[in-house]
Amino acid sequence: MIRFEEITNKNIWKVCALEPFENQKEFVAENIQSLAEAYATRNEGNNNALPLAVYNDEILIGFVMIGKGTVGNEEESDLIKENYSLWRLMIDQKYQGQGLGKQTMDAAVSLIRTFPCGEAQNVWLSYEPENTRARDIYLKYGFVETSEMCGSVDAARSVTLTL
Ligand SMILES: CC(C)(COP(=O)(O)OP(=O)(O)OC[C@H]1O[C@@H](n2cnc3c(N)ncnc32)[C@H](O)[C@@H]1OP(=O)(O)O)[C@@H](O)C(=O)NCCC(=O)NCCS
Repeated sequence: MIRFEEITNKNIWKVCALEPFENQKEFVAENIQSLAEAYATRNEGNNNALPLAVYNDEILIGFVMIGKGTVGNEEESDLIKENYSLWRLMIDQKYQGQGLGKQTMDAAVSLIRTFPCGEAQNVWLSYEPENTRARDIYLKYGFVETSEMCGSVDAARSVTLTL
């Protein structure tokens, strides 16, 4: 069963050692970079970055980061300012292709639906256009494509799901 744990000194370096396949590295930031971003975002006082280690029972298999609201970019749309994002999602190469990515997505959306950072209407996420595998998972899950762009990544596409 998929479950989440906070990042602590117990698991931080194991989380940082998780890796997607080489040809997927352009699609997702390294986990250590995501943790640095989460730290900086939380220090702005918004408490809107929730990085989590993903376990399948006792085995560490991946990393997700949930966000809420602005991350301080002036060009952000209302969709970004007022809603949740599935900011990062990765499954270590050893554990991909077994249905765990989809289950992790399911668990992350369920967690967001408990509104850990306050109420909102939608969850959105962005992905690189070449990342067709991720896109297929999102569309199959029920996300719909939007015309919104994630401010910092010009070429990224975004999708949204009603909570
Ligand atoms: C995207 C990602 C999280 C999916 O994780 P996963 O555990 O491999 O996904 P699942 O096993 O749940 O499979 C999901 C779908 O991909 C399909 N799939 C599995 N292996 C595949 C492969 N080698 N090539 C293409 N599709 C594949 C599955 O068939 C499934 O589709 P289905 O429901 O039609 O059967 C994982 O590939 C990953 O971490 N990628 C790198 C980081 C990334 O791109 N993150 C998203 C950024 S937006």
